[in-house]
Amino acid sequence: MNLLFVTPELAPWVKTGGLGDVAGALPGAIKALGVDIRVLLPAYPELLRKFPEAKEVALPSWPDGLLPLPSLKLATTADGIPLYLLDYASYYDREGNPYLGPDGEDWTDNHLRFALLSRVAAWLGSTSNTLDWQADIVHCNDWQTGLTPAYLNYLPGSRAKSLITVHNLAFQGLFEHIVMPRLDLPESAWQINGVEYHGKLSFLKAGLQFADAITTVSPSYAREIQTDEEGMGLAGLLRLHSDKLTGVLNGIDTTTWDPAADPHLPFHYSARNLDGKAANKADLQRQLGLAVRQDIPLLAVVSRLTEQKGLDLLLELGAKLMQLPAQLAILGTGSAALEQGFSALAQAFPGQCAVKIGFDEALAHRIEAGADVFLMPSRFEPCGLNQMYSLRYGTPPVVRATGGLADTVVDAADKKLGNGFVFGPATAAALLEALQRATQAWQQPKTWRRLQKQGMTQDWSWDNAARRYVELYRSLLSK
Ligand code: ADP
Ligand code: GLC
Repeated sequence: MNLLFVTPELAPWVKTGGLGDVAGALPGAIKALGVDIRVLLPAYPELLRKFPEAKEVALPSWPDGLLPLPSLKLATTADGIPLYLLDYASYYDREGNPYLGPDGEDWTDNHLRFALLSRVAAWLGSTSNTLDWQADIVHCNDWQTGLTPAYLNYLPGSRAKSLITVHNLAFQGLFEHIVMPRLDLPESAWQINGVEYHGKLSFLKAGLQFADAITTVSPSYAREIQTDEEGMGLAGLLRLHSDKLTGVLNGIDTTTWDPAADPHLPFHYSARNLDGKAANKADLQRQLGLAVRQDIPLLAVVSRLTEQKGLDLLLELGAKLMQLPAQLAILGTGSAALEQGFSALAQAFPGQCAVKIGFDEALAHRIEAGADVFLMPSRFEPCGLNQMYSLRYGTPPVVRATGGLADTVVDAADKKLGNGFVFGPATAAALLEALQRATQAWQQPKTWRRLQKQGMTQDWSWDNAARRYVELYRSLLSK
């Protein structure tokens, strides 16, 4: 089976969130099951620097070419995964965030940049492909790759089956109708059963409409997005296609995220010997300018600061958090209101609250290890990876019961399976109640140890998910 995995991000080189982590780890787990998997993504400058030996292997072209003519380079990762780097300098040779310019706004040609990525993915799954490798299945991820199934649909001859994974329904890739003629799609694609969505062109809808299978990143989110409340305007379409929609829970990269070997940590520890965790806490407190104290719990957040993540509820608690009593450490970037709000809290409570605005991979690892409790009060959460990192790092999470959080965290009330704290309503009061329960449990070393061990010894690896995906690919090929 030849599988092409198309992605707009790839950890550790290009990452804005969980999709980067998924693309960095899932292909390896699928390859381990004997699939010939190759990854396609734009040749961002970070990747050209990382793989200077990448060689040009093809020059994809389009008969009625409206889209530009790029070149494909081939590199191989340290794990032996072939990477096709889509090189078209004027689209992709831009430093920084893959979607945003230096002004923090979307690049104005994102529709062209990700149409080209999608078009090349379809080309690799078609007979016009000039390589000696043709994909039987194209696995797409999020709106940036959403036109791939549409292009495949309109190509003549035998072509790959497609599967699209929705990592976050909030990002739909909506553009004005006026861009349509530039995208090399037939005019007939502009219809309600095509790419048209309330008068606009939707990349994500195109993917959902034309893909042979749809997955999302947890079973709960697969159910939630079919309801009008949480379907972000696409619930009707998803219900219509419910027979091709499944939830496959993400895993985590258990090599990159391993408290016993993590190179970012000053001290290593494991479920059997947790001693190093207190040393990491003291080190983190020092690094962040917090008081070095082992007698109160350190609560932590590593997150995009957006509406989705429910951190406004945490901010609303303000001084009440400090009275728990607890320390609070926050690492994140995003909405100006949240950045300013948390920075003001840190100023009001020096030594007890620390805020770092920015994206810092090493610090994210040190926080997972050094904190006592990890917070994810998300309004919605397709899967969430941080709660799994924190479970593996012996840092029980406090989460709202939604999406993948509900599928991975079991409340401490369950004496046998409990690994964290779960609350229901998206209110500051419900969050506070869960935090009170967590900080009280933290004061009882035996209870706490049990919670920590439960999370640390569960299997969070990609193995299960990889098997599920391979079953799905097989069933598509047999259709
Ligand atoms: P999402 O993809 O919605 O942002 P996930 O929990 O799936 O949420 O994944 C987020 C990923 O991004 C995690 O690996 C997390 O550690 C990382 N991350 C988020 N914000 C930051 C930050 N400010 N610094 C470092 N890593 C971050
Ligand atoms: C998205 C979601 C997040 C998920 C990640 C990886 O960014 O917001 O919940 O974990 O994708 O699938």
